[in-house]
Amino acid sequence: MEVFDCIESRHSVRRYEKKDIPDEFVGRIIYAGIQAPSAGNMQPWEFIVVKDEKIKEELATASLRQNHVKNAPVVIVICADPEKSGDRYGERGKTLYCIQDTAAAIENMLLAANDLGLGACWVGAFDEEEVKNILNIPERLRPIAAITLGFPISYEKPTKSSRIPFERITWADKYGKHFSWFEHYGEEWKLKIRPLEEHVKKIKEKINHKKI
Ligand SMILES: Cc1cc2nc3c(=O)[nH]c(=O)nc-3n(C[C@H](O)[C@H](O)[C@H](O)COP(=O)(O)O)c2cc1C
Repeated sequence: MEVFDCIESRHSVRRYEKKDIPDEFVGRIIYAGIQAPSAGNMQPWEFIVVKDEKIKEELATASLRQNHVKNAPVVIVICADPEKSGDRYGERGKTLYCIQDTAAAIENMLLAANDLGLGACWVGAFDEEEVKNILNIPERLRPIAAITLGFPISYEKPTKSSRIPFERITWADKYGKHFSWFEHYGEEWKLKIRPLEEHVKKIKEKINHKKI
C-alpha cells in the first residue's frame, strides 16, 4: 500500500472475525514497530503477544471490560523501559523519551497491520498494575498500551473518525500565522483530488536537478 494511503485509511477496528492471525503477520507487525526512531537509539520497548483465551479475558477485565480485548484473536501488549532511557537521559528519558519512542513503535505497528489487511485498535485504558500481574511483567517495565488485532468483520463498513481541520492547528514560523501549503493545496488534498501526486513528483524532480 502506498504510504499516504496506508496512513489515511488506518482507523481503529474493534470487531473481528473469529479467525486466527498467522504468526508471520504478528512478527511483521512487531518488526515494523521496532523500526521506529528512539532517543539515542535506546529502543526502550518490549512486546508480549497474547493469544491465550483466559489471559485475554483477564486483560479485558483489567481494561475496563473492553470487549474487543477479549474478542481479538491476538493482543500485543507493548511495554516501555523507563530505566533504559533514564540511564542515558535522566528524568526526561524516564518520563518522556521512553513513552514517545514506544508510541512511535505502536503507530508503526498499526500501519503495518492496516497494510496486512488486519483491523487493530490502540488500547490505553487499563490498570497498569493489574496488567503487570496478569502477564508477569518485571517491575522495571511499564505496559503502556495494548494493540488488539484481528481480521475486520466483513460486513462492517470502515468508518473514519473526523479530524480537527489542518488549518486550525498548523502555523508558519510563529503561532497564529497560517501555513501556506494548506491554502494552496489543502482543499484539493482534503477532497481527495490528487493532481498533487503529480505535483509532488515534479517538486522531487526539481530538487534532484537542483533547481530548488
Ligand atoms: C493513547 C491512546 C489510548 C487509547 N485507548 C483506547 C482504549 O482504551 N480503547 C479504545 O477502544 N480505543 C482507544 N484508543 C483509540 C482511539 O479511541 C482512536 O484512535 C481515536 O478515537 C481516533 O479514531 P481512529 O483510530 O479510528 O482514527 C486509544 C488511542 C490512543 C492514541
